[in-house]
Amino acid sequence: MLFLQVAALAASFAGFTTAQSLDPSGTQRVIPTLSPQINALPSLTPTIYDESAPDPQACPGYKASNVAENDHGFTADLTIYGANCQAYGNDIADLTLEVSYQAKERLNVRIYPKNIAPANSTQYILPAHLVEQPDWDGKTNANCSDLAFEWSNNPTFQFRVSRVSTGEELFSTYGHVIVFEDQFLELVTNMVDDYNVYGLAENIHDFRLGTNYTQTFYAVDAGNSIDGNVYGVIPFYQETRYGQNGSETTAHGMYARNAHGQEWLLRANTIAYRTLGGSFDLYFLSGQKEDGSSSALTTISQFQVGCIGTPAMQMYWTFGFHQARWGYENISVDQSIVDGYRQADIPLECLWNDLDIYDLYRDFTNNDITYPLPEFTNFIESLHANGQYYVPIIDSNIYVPNPDNASDAYAPFERGASLQTYIRDPTTGDFYYGDNWPGFSVWADWLLSTSQSWWANEIIQWHKGTPFDGIWIDLSEASSFCAGSCGNGRLTENPAHPPFLLPGDPLTFDFNYPEGFNITNATEAASAAAASASQASAISASPILPAATTTTQGRTEPTPGVRNLNFPPYVINNVQAGHALGKSSIAPNATHNDQYNTTEYEMHNLFGYQISNATYHALIELFPGRRPFTVGRSVFAGSGKTTSHWGGDNTSTWGSMFLSISQAFTMMMSGIPMFGADTCGFARNTDFQLCSRWMELSAFFPFYRNHNVKAAISQEAYRWSSVAESARRAMAVRYSLLGYMYTLFYHAHTKGETVMRALAWEFPNDESLRGTFSQFMLGPSILVTPVLVPNVETVQGVFPGIGKGERWYDWYTLAEVDAQPGENVTLQAPLEHINVHVRGGSVLVLQEPKLTTAETRKTPYSLLVALSSDNTATGNLYLDDGESLQPNATRLVQFSYSNNCLSFTSDGDFHSAPALGNITIAGLHEQPQHASLKSGGKDCDYSELSTSFDGGVLKISGLDKYTSNGAFEHDFELNFS
Ligand code: GLC
Repeated sequence: MLFLQVAALAASFAGFTTAQSLDPSGTQRVIPTLSPQINALPSLTPTIYDESAPDPQACPGYKASNVAENDHGFTADLTIYGANCQAYGNDIADLTLEVSYQAKERLNVRIYPKNIAPANSTQYILPAHLVEQPDWDGKTNANCSDLAFEWSNNPTFQFRVSRVSTGEELFSTYGHVIVFEDQFLELVTNMVDDYNVYGLAENIHDFRLGTNYTQTFYAVDAGNSIDGNVYGVIPFYQETRYGQNGSETTAHGMYARNAHGQEWLLRANTIAYRTLGGSFDLYFLSGQKEDGSSSALTTISQFQVGCIGTPAMQMYWTFGFHQARWGYENISVDQSIVDGYRQADIPLECLWNDLDIYDLYRDFTNNDITYPLPEFTNFIESLHANGQYYVPIIDSNIYVPNPDNASDAYAPFERGASLQTYIRDPTTGDFYYGDNWPGFSVWADWLLSTSQSWWANEIIQWHKGTPFDGIWIDLSEASSFCAGSCGNGRLTENPAHPPFLLPGDPLTFDFNYPEGFNITNATEAASAAAASASQASAISASPILPAATTTTQGRTEPTPGVRNLNFPPYVINNVQAGHALGKSSIAPNATHNDQYNTTEYEMHNLFGYQISNATYHALIELFPGRRPFTVGRSVFAGSGKTTSHWGGDNTSTWGSMFLSISQAFTMMMSGIPMFGADTCGFARNTDFQLCSRWMELSAFFPFYRNHNVKAAISQEAYRWSSVAESARRAMAVRYSLLGYMYTLFYHAHTKGETVMRALAWEFPNDESLRGTFSQFMLGPSILVTPVLVPNVETVQGVFPGIGKGERWYDWYTLAEVDAQPGENVTLQAPLEHINVHVRGGSVLVLQEPKLTTAETRKTPYSLLVALSSDNTATGNLYLDDGESLQPNATRLVQFSYSNNCLSFTSDGDFHSAPALGNITIAGLHEQPQHASLKSGGKDCDYSELSTSFDGGVLKISGLDKYTSNGAFEHDFELNFS
């Protein structure tokens, strides 16, 4: 939801008849009467800011006893060592400790209540069938682990994890007690001075999290809340320690497998980990390779491969450019967008529709007036005929039809209801009736297997008229616009309008423009300011109802034997008004239909994970054997196995664009590499400068989509000549590199490698890069230096490793960068230009950019060899059919340049038809005089090729005659002498 500050307006102010203006189909809707449950009481203080809140470290802690060794670690009892302290819940006196050397690089520490009978009836322990739970590899024990576990009972149970090879302490609770209550767990670790901690996604924050930061985790529908909780929850951090006195940099990580609302307090020399329930299930990752060295990249890969699962492989076409918008009003508008891109000669791979296609915002419908069938079906098929694709939105809520109005029937709801497939309201035992775009709504309970089959059936049936190629899952936090089961007894009011104005309703035009707009567009900025003021005065002259809000009770006291689910004693710093867990969300006490009646208190952060999984499996049913393409808003650890993710409701501001890079890094760490931000910005108006720069920047993000809210100006790339030119140029680079991007995904999918990379990951010994996110790498070979501020024509960037053996080449000219070690180089950056550099030592496989990925994939290949300081280079290329879940043929080509010889070996059966046309070698010190060429073991005549040499760059063309049955069918060798 767009977080509108405008509260619900009464229907009657001048010129605005709500019922007529709100519904694309013209159907009457009821004016909001969703009264707030309890209105804004004085704002509640989150516990981290509440000076009167109890200090959990005053709790007594535990003593360990009954230690029992086993073949991969030990277990022990933990018994509370003093009176219950009831800091923020009821203390659990008897716990079990399990320490397990699960794999050489991974140590697991679990602490959970000793007596849970039956399991999960009193304290929710995240089950392995819901979220992957790493286990012992069957061979590792303490003697062969990278990590060592040590504990003490003095004064109470405390433990420490260290690296065996160096003795380095990685995690230590020494000096702190462990707190374990039904609604509050705390563990505090000591940290080194000025530590470098990264991750704890999802956040909109600097890349290096810093030593005075709190990450709150509670999936939330609230725009891009800077420094607050956002849509996703991935409780994993990676820590880097720079070597002192010549020693190597080390890196390690920690994953805390718990889905409850939680908080991580990063402070000067400690991190406190606090959750609202569940158990401690901690995975320490050594980050070590075989040779004993450790790195951030290895840690991240260990997290993905060993803990949560590696990301899904994506279809080739999904790396093309996507255009979406809320506000494409009908099929002709859709068509005009497609035509606009074609006429401007800008690639458009996939068109997306938002809620506009629906009848009254109801999933799986088609608006008969604006998106009628079969015209709409024909439109989508026309995209397919042009090699283009189509993706629509599906919201997480399901509309509940008005029981008094027979013509309001809504079959998807009825089918789910007959299977009893929805989350329940504990007070009535009936379904939980919250509120969303269409009115009072319900949500699927993904703990039921019937929900999966019902969901798959709805998707499959809808596809018959709306033949989409992927699904965009929205509002999966899950978002509800009122407090509690507000539809109880009020379903006859449906379809009720949400209790606030929607973008696109009168008086909701957004007059905000990016920073710097008043300098470049002074007149427009002045008139926007005037229009904004007059809109604001029209709103204030009208009777305004307060938006529905949850009661804010302040901190509650723990009650013996009882959990307070809606208002737990510990108040996390949720960004929603009042910080209440039930604000804009399904209430925590709503229940699921499993045998324990698990509540939303436990399940909240998993809704997005589950609906994306369900959609993934529905798409497998719909397109057997094909990789599903789903893009979801709320994610959890492991979501990348099934879904992609976009950054949610950002704004058209320079700051938002900048922070999309650090947000992307955290997603790369989290195994969700198919990530992108709403390019040019979602909320607010963009302008030509910001949109130009953003179209350039996002061209180097894996998921590349321009998306925009309804009540703002249009921002497709062809709307301004400058943006169009920026898009064409940046896309030309991206489309040339599609094979490289796809290969990076193959490595992410098979080995947990990252796609976009922080400079700190690629250059781990350079401490000056520890916080950098104004530049980034795409894989190991491409350096991107975007412009992130308005009104400039230059940008500054560093070229890591210069002076220590690294060489860098300008992508466009192949000129070698001439810079001093550590120099912040000023680069020319006219509006239509993004600086891209190739790292010496790389072999890149390129193709010719065309208007679609399919056309591009048919063009001849070329090789770009950028030599390192010792005149070597390597690279690789993965090929398959681009869409099969289990391709029956693949090919892996390994390239190498050394000793004046460029060669590749090619393994596999996949046949890629295009020939190898050209080879370019940059960074040569002199022109080679002689060469011999062998392809598939046969000698070829080098003298028949045309060559040129200029500025250290050798260009060879005409190779296609030797590779006409496919560039990589045979091994190849080009020897210079
Ligand atoms: C949410 C989504 C946004 C979408 C809008 C309307 O705010 O995050 O992308 O356009 O809902 O569906």
